[in-house]
Amino acid sequence: MGSELLQRILSWVLAVEGIPLVQVTCNEWQRIQSFQARPDDLLICTYPKAGTTWIQEIVDMIQQDGDLEKCKRAPVHHRHPFIEWVRPPQPSGVEQAEAMPSPRTLKTHLPVKLLPPSFWEQQCKFLYVARNAKDCMVSYYHFQRMNKVLPDPGPWHEYFEMFMAGKVGWGPWHDHVKGWWKVKDMHCVLFLFYEDMKKDLKREIQKVAQFLGKNLDQELLDKIVYHTSFDVMKDNPMANRSGVPRSFMDLSISPFMRKGTVGDWKNHFTVAQNERFEEDYEKKMAGTNLTFCMEL
Ligand SMILES: *[C@@H]1O[C@H](CO)[C@@H](O)[C@H](O)[C@H]1NC(C)=O
Ligand SMILES: *[C@@H]1O[C@H](CO)[C@@H](O)[C@H](O)[C@H]1NC(C)=O
Repeated sequence: MGSELLQRILSWVLAVEGIPLVQVTCNEWQRIQSFQARPDDLLICTYPKAGTTWIQEIVDMIQQDGDLEKCKRAPVHHRHPFIEWVRPPQPSGVEQAEAMPSPRTLKTHLPVKLLPPSFWEQQCKFLYVARNAKDCMVSYYHFQRMNKVLPDPGPWHEYFEMFMAGKVGWGPWHDHVKGWWKVKDMHCVLFLFYEDMKKDLKREIQKVAQFLGKNLDQELLDKIVYHTSFDVMKDNPMANRSGVPRSFMDLSISPFMRKGTVGDWKNHFTVAQNERFEEDYEKKMAGTNLTFCMEL
């Protein structure tokens, strides 16, 4: 392993149980762990780059009964407090959540083992979106290129190694999806797949609405489908991060809403990388019946 690569890995801080998180989050770890969930909280949970913004917009549109003006009240990443997010001097995700009236919709990328325990104790609702590992890796790579808070991803072939080794923010993809898959029958979890959302968005939106106890008529459903399509969201300034300072996200390097497709990994993985990935994947995913669609 080259020393530059090692340097990049070390710029993450090993937080709890070997999961890399940014330093500022580690500094506030006690406060995050003792976060007080409320029984009527809805927690949106994803591995990074698995369709978080997409599901947030869908949930918000359902909750606001399709009222676009209400959905424009703030950029989507500010509508739902991000529990482990810390960026002084702005209020942290925990502080934002504490100040929010119930019922709250919150967001996290934390794996099951790092989730603040009160979420389980309060028997909250969890909405998990999973995306296939290969596309997540590609998307995460481009995201780290433009995100100035996260470590520079280096060249693709090095990033590929780091991702496989789970040395990326929020830890290994495999453990994340397996962990949430495992708890889904013990808690109130709606487990969705990014690829299913690409295949049949209307059907998946209906599942979310049902989970939230909302009945959508056809007209409203069609409206939500339209407004949460990739092309419309890419041009929505409340979703495409166009208001984020360039020192934080440089959208000229790679847009936040990049492609939103299934199978873009084929444009990045070499044949040899794909073989290595598959072999490793089979080992890590053995013993789970969780299956992913890698192309449509
Ligand atoms: C974000 O949306 C605005 C408003 O539609 C648009 O002008 C801008 O080009 C979009 N930004 C990106 C990076 O797509
Ligand atoms: C997969 O296993 C879980 C239990 O771990 C079970 O609840 C679920 O029904 C299984 N799904 C399929 C498709 O076999």
